[in-house]
Amino acid sequence: MKLLAEEKLLWSPTVVNSRMNRERNASGINSYEKEFKFKPEEFLATKISESGKASWLDLCCGVGNALIQTANYFDKRGQQNLVKLKGIDLINTFSPIEKHLTCLDFKTRSLTDWESGVAYDMITCVHGLHYLGDKLKVIEAIIKALNPDGLFIANLDISNIVIQGTNSRDFLKKYFKQNGLIYKARLRIIKRIGPANLNFPVRYLGADDECGPNYTGQDSVTSYYSI
Ligand SMILES: C[S@@+](CC[C@H](N)C(=O)[O-])C[C@H]1O[C@@H](n2cnc3c(N)ncnc32)[C@H](O)[C@@H]1O
Repeated sequence: MKLLAEEKLLWSPTVVNSRMNRERNASGINSYEKEFKFKPEEFLATKISESGKASWLDLCCGVGNALIQTANYFDKRGQQNLVKLKGIDLINTFSPIEKHLTCLDFKTRSLTDWESGVAYDMITCVHGLHYLGDKLKVIEAIIKALNPDGLFIANLDISNIVIQGTNSRDFLKKYFKQNGLIYKARLRIIKRIGPANLNFPVRYLGADDECGPNYTGQDSVTSYYSI
């Protein structure tokens, strides 16, 4: 099997697939709420009531509907000045941000070699990790960028991570547990509260973009590592 380097992976038909669902809302039908069982806007509203402000970074945000819906929610409450919302995606298919929404911005870039200079109260990646090459490096960067009590939550199918020379599933579950990452295998959700400097004891080898569909039914990318 030929493993792809990051630069090549970004051009893979699996990654730029136009049939992906990029349009999830924050809550309601076809939403982040459906994935994670909480409303992002309510999480942020609680943060505001506790600490006076709140921030949310949505990685692989697609067209950014969840962020736009949330920006409108806080606009209606007259609280745009208390929230910072940011979305990052490889492809610029972002919905237009109406002029009155000042608390939101989008950035077009790959998460390859991404590091955040800023900390957030919530970092989400909804059905985005499935398409990344070095998934573990991105998870490390995310965890570093959490505020104290900040929440990271994402969909992850650990069958999309192969660690050669060991039982990948057992290795990952043990490492996640030791480092405060909660992995819900049935729901394929990974989460953690609070920042940390993780250092997965593995070396990234490359990605297979021809591994076929994962549990979502969509073609996905399997990331290969060695120990
Ligand atoms: C299935 S969509 C999910 C979009 C959005 N989170 C939603 O649920 O509506 C996956 C997104 O990951 C983005 N993506 C894939 N590889 C990426 C990369 N290396 N860096 C940043 N975004 C990436 C794709 O462009 C796509 O918009």
